[in-house]
Amino acid sequence: MRSPLRRLAGALLAALLMLPLGSYAAPAADPYAPRPEGAIVAGGRIHDRSGLDAAEIERRIDALMARMTLDDKIGQMVADGWDTDFDDRRVSEGHIGLLSGVETPAETARLQTLARRSRLGIPLIFARDALHGYRTLAPVPLGLAASFDPEIIAAAGRFTGREATGQGMHLTFSPMVDLTRDPRWGRVVEGPGEDPHLARLFARAMVDGLAEGGLQATLKHFVGYGAVRAGRDYAEAEISVSTLHDLHLPPFRAGLEAGAQVVMASFSVLNGVPVTADRRLLTKLLRDAWGFDGVVISDWDAVRELMPHGVAGTPAEAVEKAVTAGVDVDLASGLYAKELPGLVASGRVPVARVDEAVRRILRVKFRFGLFDETVTPIVDPKVAAGAAATPEIRAAALETSRRSIILLKNDRDLLPLVRPPKRIAVIGAAARDAADLMGSWGAKGEEKDVPLFFDELRALVARFGAEVRFAPGCDDACVKTGGFGRAVRTAEQADLIVAVLGEPWYLTAESTSRTRLGLPNRQQALLDRLAATGKPIVLVVLAGRPMVMGEAWPKARAILYAFSPGTMGGRALVDVITGAVNPSGRLPMSLPRAVGQLPFSYDMLPTGRPPKPDDDLSARYVDEEVTPFLPFGHGLSYTRFAYSDLVLSTPTARPGDTVGVSVTVRNVGARAGREIVQLYVHDVVAARSRPLRQLKGLARVDLAPGEAKRVRIDLPVDDLAYADDDGRWALDPGRVDVFVGGSSTATTSASFELVRP
Ligand code: BGC
Repeated sequence: MRSPLRRLAGALLAALLMLPLGSYAAPAADPYAPRPEGAIVAGGRIHDRSGLDAAEIERRIDALMARMTLDDKIGQMVADGWDTDFDDRRVSEGHIGLLSGVETPAETARLQTLARRSRLGIPLIFARDALHGYRTLAPVPLGLAASFDPEIIAAAGRFTGREATGQGMHLTFSPMVDLTRDPRWGRVVEGPGEDPHLARLFARAMVDGLAEGGLQATLKHFVGYGAVRAGRDYAEAEISVSTLHDLHLPPFRAGLEAGAQVVMASFSVLNGVPVTADRRLLTKLLRDAWGFDGVVISDWDAVRELMPHGVAGTPAEAVEKAVTAGVDVDLASGLYAKELPGLVASGRVPVARVDEAVRRILRVKFRFGLFDETVTPIVDPKVAAGAAATPEIRAAALETSRRSIILLKNDRDLLPLVRPPKRIAVIGAAARDAADLMGSWGAKGEEKDVPLFFDELRALVARFGAEVRFAPGCDDACVKTGGFGRAVRTAEQADLIVAVLGEPWYLTAESTSRTRLGLPNRQQALLDRLAATGKPIVLVVLAGRPMVMGEAWPKARAILYAFSPGTMGGRALVDVITGAVNPSGRLPMSLPRAVGQLPFSYDMLPTGRPPKPDDDLSARYVDEEVTPFLPFGHGLSYTRFAYSDLVLSTPTARPGDTVGVSVTVRNVGARAGREIVQLYVHDVVAARSRPLRQLKGLARVDLAPGEAKRVRIDLPVDDLAYADDDGRWALDPGRVDVFVGGSSTATTSASFELVRP
């Protein structure tokens, strides 16, 4: 007989052996439990040109820092703009680490030679705001976003990079990835628009493209600048933690994942604190939680501006706040150089913080390849002269311009002008204005590189024996109206009017907030006069933001929205007007009906009282529709596309899964065309209200007339996660509706269920 103890041990062993293997592991974590965001994985794509391994870079930094005095270290933390009075001793004595806006390759080469011959030989970083090109300009960033095509955005980054590095630049203060839902803010032109998915694609594509062209990116403005109150530039923003993580931070993460090494702190105020002084954002989040090991640079003069912001009483206090918040480099205020020595001597700023900043700056300089002449040589001015505005770069720019143009309206197929009418009147000063094509932040763009719209159209239609006549009507902002009469007479004598109106470049970008968003000044009056002639009108809108188009709409039979389409924009517009190119651009921001709807975005949350026309207690305006004038993602083509057979790869999914979404797209018109296939989701029931529509996938498909293709877009379930009040990612089981089509109002739909394992 076995003893009772042995029997018990035997029974226990048997019971254990019968348990499924999984039971021996720790209980599986709930896949639906909110999880922290975690560190960034740059996926081996850190833009490191040094050829050195990470440990070797740190060793070289140690060796260099061992030879640096406090003054040398502070010198690396100083950045400034170049001007003709620039004092060379700042470079030869090591008092500056980064210079922005040096005008010529010869000057760049001279200054870099001085830096290399300085005691420590630490090279300078040469930077510039090259947001959509250096000399050859792509469409402004919002126009690039309108391509809805990461390939086009990356191409613009590539040629920007090639041209800028060819002139001796290392770094651009771009891309701006601030999410923006309020077109009153002039800086909407600099960014990717209203949608976080498109903004992430934009950030990634731009950082990658720039790096492929050899140029390093700065992600700006970290974070929240795009949400300034009422669109007023330099005003404050209020953003909840969940909204910050859901909307505003993802484009920055995407850019960092692509390998960006520099982040510019926003000079705006977020939730009461100027970001330049916000340690939670610049250090706790960016460095500690996300693991960013690159450089944070201030925005222009932002360290000094902590005083007028009212969070620092003295320059020393401003510096103390900025540097301890995590700003490594002071751009343009000059206060780090003045105040840091004293602050370190008094112990108010620990020398360890200075060392940390300097290590980051040197690390980035090593990664840029600046210490290795064979990787990043000093620019040769003779070579530089032939490296800009080359035929290849101009061809690449032309393609980006063509893909950014949006056809908003085309009544009775007025466009394309396959056989142009005999007499065309081109009205509007912008039709002959190079600067309005190039757009704001024109970097080193040159007017002589720009084929003007009027000239291009005239040359093209001349081949058909047609004649084009021009009358500006007024100046490009349309303040002076003396030319109205002649413009109307020119229009009366024509068979067709092409009116080129909208925002001149100087009404867009920094410090150009607007309270009225119709055509500026007297342009609408000019358009009304042209329409009164009864001649058909093609309206070409050049603009830096979505405008309120209701008044202009009925006056034109066709409307092309071209933003500022860049150096080659005039030719691209003619290609589209004549049908050589079938337009495929899409609205990267909803067009509002009225300024009173702003801020506006298509991804609204549901409401307990959805808008109903005959219900006076529903979410509505009593004097206007709640819907946009035109929805996000909208854009016409000279052909039409039909969607059918939407199939999901699975009826159920779990966190970590990917749902394959397949649909047939058919060209049911008579011309070849490109469709931008858009995938939207709605998570029907969750712990937080989820938007009625959210863009989660894009595909581009080229189709001949009558042709159909099966298009598949992968939807990673984790992309449905949303941020909770602590900035953790959450996801809930339940139904998810999927919509596929050509805009955010797509109707072809299917559903799947998020289930528990
Ligand atoms: C802008 C930045 C820009 C900087 C340098 C500032 O006024 O806010 O976006 O990079 O100037 O030109």
